[in-house]
Amino acid sequence: VPASSCTAFAPGRVNIIGEHTDYNRGLALPFAITAGVTATAVKRADGQPIVQARACDLDESDEFRLDEPPPGEGWRAFLRGAVAELAAAGRPLSGANLEIAGDVPRGAGLSSSAALTVALCLALTALASGSREPLDDGAKLALAQLCSRIENRWTGAQTGLLDQLASLCGEPDSALLIDFDTLQVLPVALALAGWRFVTADSGERHALASSGYNERRSECTRACELLGIGSLRECLPAQLALLPEPLRRRACHVLEENDRVRAAVQALRAEDLAALGPLLDASHASLRDLYEVSTPAVEATVARLREAGAAGARLIGGGFGGAVLGLFAPERPVPPGCVEVGPGPGAYVR
Ligand code: GLA
Repeated sequence: VPASSCTAFAPGRVNIIGEHTDYNRGLALPFAITAGVTATAVKRADGQPIVQARACDLDESDEFRLDEPPPGEGWRAFLRGAVAELAAAGRPLSGANLEIAGDVPRGAGLSSSAALTVALCLALTALASGSREPLDDGAKLALAQLCSRIENRWTGAQTGLLDQLASLCGEPDSALLIDFDTLQVLPVALALAGWRFVTADSGERHALASSGYNERRSECTRACELLGIGSLRECLPAQLALLPEPLRRRACHVLEENDRVRAAVQALRAEDLAALGPLLDASHASLRDLYEVSTPAVEATVARLREAGAAGARLIGGGFGGAVLGLFAPERPVPPGCVEVGPGPGAYVR
């Protein structure tokens, strides 16, 4: 029996380490956070094939026909894209009234957009199919890919699968080791023992499509073409010298960042949180100097966290603004203006 109303929650994410590796078939180590987006879908009493939606936090609304979602801006692009891509994938859909609310800061590098698309897709699918069964691993991967297409086609940001997989596969008390070559997601216990992760907002908002994100992605593609390889995962350290600048710097970041992810997983498995700090710092230096995605506002925020005693700090997400992640030892107070973030469950329908 189709449900008359469904609520889906999808979390944002923090990436401990492994930045700009996802679209290079590399490694990353994110966790889903407890903040996220909630979407409630209610069957329309009139049965019309129309979607009516309200973004409660923005006090904005949207309305369009199910069979012809028009292009849009901001949150509407994600909603209309969700309907269009679900339809294109042959998923059942029905007319719906939607309410959307969330507590992930937008454009802050905590994946508010993946949380939004995952929550919308889950709510719309559950409403039309009547099923609230948890997705299996294959279905999570397929939905992550669909949500990534929404971002690519409807906002123009050529982002990878990091955010969507983290939002869908999150587990309490765990980080996720994601191998973007095999698309395997492996939970890694996050035994924090009093250590805390915090985020600090740089105050600078980004829109991935208009930042240098797509340019970085095409630089990596170009590096692969020049080396005759399918992805930077296949690139050997000795091949880096064959690349012209800035492509050498970009590829060098990706190779070394994959190694840092491996080292971070070892540190977590050994419950050696202190070893994570220098890895975060090294990742940040590489994102700043080799990948060149930092900004003065981000640098000031990183410096503020280090002065406050962070064991390590780095920009997270695509860069060009957004949030900074800091790691604090148990005896260190969390500085004012920072938000503690911990791992929470992945997306679900209720
Ligand atoms: C953004 C993108 C992700 C990933 C990160 C950088 O968050 O959405 O796919 O590329 O940037 O690691």
